[in-house]
Amino acid sequence: MPAAVHVVSIDPQASTVWWANRISDLPFDFSQEHESPENLSILKDTGAQVHVIANQKGGVGKTTVTLNLGAVVADVLKDSDALQHVFIDTPGSLQDENLLLEALKYAHDVIVPMPPEPLAFDPTARTIQKVIEPAGLPYHVLVNNWDPRDGKADLDETREYIEAQGWRSLKVAIRRYKVHTRASAEGRVVTQYDENKPSFKAREDFYRLAIELGYGGGK
Ligand SMILES: Nc1ncnc2c1ncn2[C@@H]1O[C@H](COP(=O)(O)OP(=O)(O)OP(=O)(O)O)[C@@H](O)[C@H]1O
Ligand SMILES: [Mg+2]
Repeated sequence: MPAAVHVVSIDPQASTVWWANRISDLPFDFSQEHESPENLSILKDTGAQVHVIANQKGGVGKTTVTLNLGAVVADVLKDSDALQHVFIDTPGSLQDENLLLEALKYAHDVIVPMPPEPLAFDPTARTIQKVIEPAGLPYHVLVNNWDPRDGKADLDETREYIEAQGWRSLKVAIRRYKVHTRASAEGRVVTQYDENKPSFKAREDFYRLAIELGYGGGK
């Protein structure tokens, strides 16, 4: 019986595989395909919705979002016996643009994580304008790594920027929690975090994100 969710990494850095290999009980199927991205073409025949997580700026949270969103959607769909959603984690560099372009060939939509920091604005704009919009795909910008303790100014400024660009922004922002930063070393995804208040909030963000995107619900 195939898992409802498949996560694919095409990042040659392979941090996703490093993380995934440490997770003892993976809630989704996982594969690393940067050496043979043409293997992605089998996705066309699966009938699954393919979501690409992309931003050519490094360190914005692509891997964190891919694995944790994949985990909550897998949790919501745990009783399903068919593959429904594929999440593709992509490289955070301009030099691997060919890999990102290959993934976009099979995508139904794109999620663009960005931190609420002005330094990330221009590189994010480049990815959207030069790569995602020319592919003609629907996309959503997701503010990630917002620390509520810093107040709302950075979040508001980032949302104003996103709106001024005419991009569609997700209402949910993924907050910054140490549990996320530690999770890769501990080999966990958000559905496997301990039961405490920060973990609960960290998990809540990803469930709300899945609901806003309509992944796994509404059937
Ligand atoms: N919401 C968050 N809360 C706390 N830490 C976060 C959050 N999002 C990302 N991080 C941390 O920021 C760092 C970069 O995140 P991540 O590896 O997911 O980014 P990336 O875009 O995949 O990077 P790359 O471009 O190198 O592949 C990691 O240490 C990760 O744990
Ligand atoms: Mg990554």
